[in-house]
Amino acid sequence: MEPLLLPPIPDYHRIEVYEAHDGYAMLKKALAMKPVEITNEVKASKLRGRGGACFPTGLKWSFMPRESAKPKYLCVNGDESEPGTFKDRQIFECNPHQLIEGTIIACYAMGIKAAYLYVRGEYKHWIDIVQKAVDDAYAHGYIGQNILGSGFSTEFTVHRGAGAYICGEESSLMNSVEGERGYPRVKPPFPAQNGLWGCPTTINNVETIANIPVILRIGAVAYSKIGAERHPGPILVGVSGHVNKPGVYEMPTGVPLLEIINTYAGGVPGNKKIKAVIPGGSSTMVLRGDALDGVCMDAESLKAAGSAVGTAGVIVMDEDTDLVKVLWRIARFYHHESCGQCTPCREGTGWMEKILKRFVDNNGSYADIDLLRDVANNIEGNTICALGDAAAWPVQSVIRTFRGEFERRVRG
Ligand SMILES: Cc1cc2nc3c(=O)[nH]c(=O)nc-3n(C[C@H](O)[C@H](O)[C@H](O)COP(=O)(O)O)c2cc1C
Repeated sequence: MEPLLLPPIPDYHRIEVYEAHDGYAMLKKALAMKPVEITNEVKASKLRGRGGACFPTGLKWSFMPRESAKPKYLCVNGDESEPGTFKDRQIFECNPHQLIEGTIIACYAMGIKAAYLYVRGEYKHWIDIVQKAVDDAYAHGYIGQNILGSGFSTEFTVHRGAGAYICGEESSLMNSVEGERGYPRVKPPFPAQNGLWGCPTTINNVETIANIPVILRIGAVAYSKIGAERHPGPILVGVSGHVNKPGVYEMPTGVPLLEIINTYAGGVPGNKKIKAVIPGGSSTMVLRGDALDGVCMDAESLKAAGSAVGTAGVIVMDEDTDLVKVLWRIARFYHHESCGQCTPCREGTGWMEKILKRFVDNNGSYADIDLLRDVANNIEGNTICALGDAAAWPVQSVIRTFRGEFERRVRG
């Protein structure tokens, strides 16, 4: 598959280079279409969100009211704070204009007059690249008033987050844009009815939006035939951990995990065995290394294997990895990032971290294994947002698949 999200073209982040390769041609095409035709095209492409939940993008867009007395908004989610996930960063750095073009097309399709790109605050270097791209797109008439003489106008704001993982959760993100504390909101009402400042809002991931010009360029039918049938399209997979060539690789969905690890990422150093893999960022269920045969990088395959695509951040751990210590480190992250609004998450994440530390120090007991599982079970599904689930799933899956690791620690 030719790269559709990260074409290897030098200086592609510069507007002249992007334009020289047909950049913004899909915006021109879109502005000549009816907005509903674009949403129908996105639906037909079967694109599913790349922000973690794999929700169908066209369906999400169709939830936005066609007529609205209130303004409508688009939030493009580039908070990217999940451990193991670093793929949106590549779009900021290498292909920001495709993201901007997709954003304006999305705004046109949904009748939106203002878009916010929420970028992880620590990505200073990449924010500068994106801001320059936005300024250039304004100067070239692709954003702002009466875009390309079409009569359609929309504004674009780059909003820097302050380094909180919770602000990647869509409702916290909206609170953060409003200048409020980044607390998740109870749903319903859903953002399409009651989002930013109480107005209809759509939230999409950076990579999701970067796919929109591709769909218009190659057509929904051709797009829907790339990769896995029920979860098609190009996908950016970030591979880290014990591999020879860590990095972000573009591929069709549905590539076997073992091919991603051994071919794309150059295999495990020293040809060691794979003990475990986290396939979709730290919040997805851990898979055993000896159970990876036939498991592919798409929503259905990973679900069947007991995990999820998440944000396609593949973390590879070789046979020498101390999984209990890894889990403790992950639990520390979730405890630190819990916003504290819901008791099960606020208390439970700290409790899990403490129990795991006992195991790391070889002070854990058999009863602690069950206690740890019970705490995780009591967080899952009992919080306003999915950060609680994200904290519980790695713990539950490691206890389920690697219980022996804990028992060995108990035996000393
Ligand atoms: C704790 C938490 C953090 C999240 N962080 C991100 C993030 O950094 N980027 C992102 O796109 N989605 C993130 N999400 C998912 C968003 O809430 C939302 O589902 C996504 O932005 C929708 O975009 P999509 O439909 O294009 O996938 C997070 C969810 C949770 C619960």
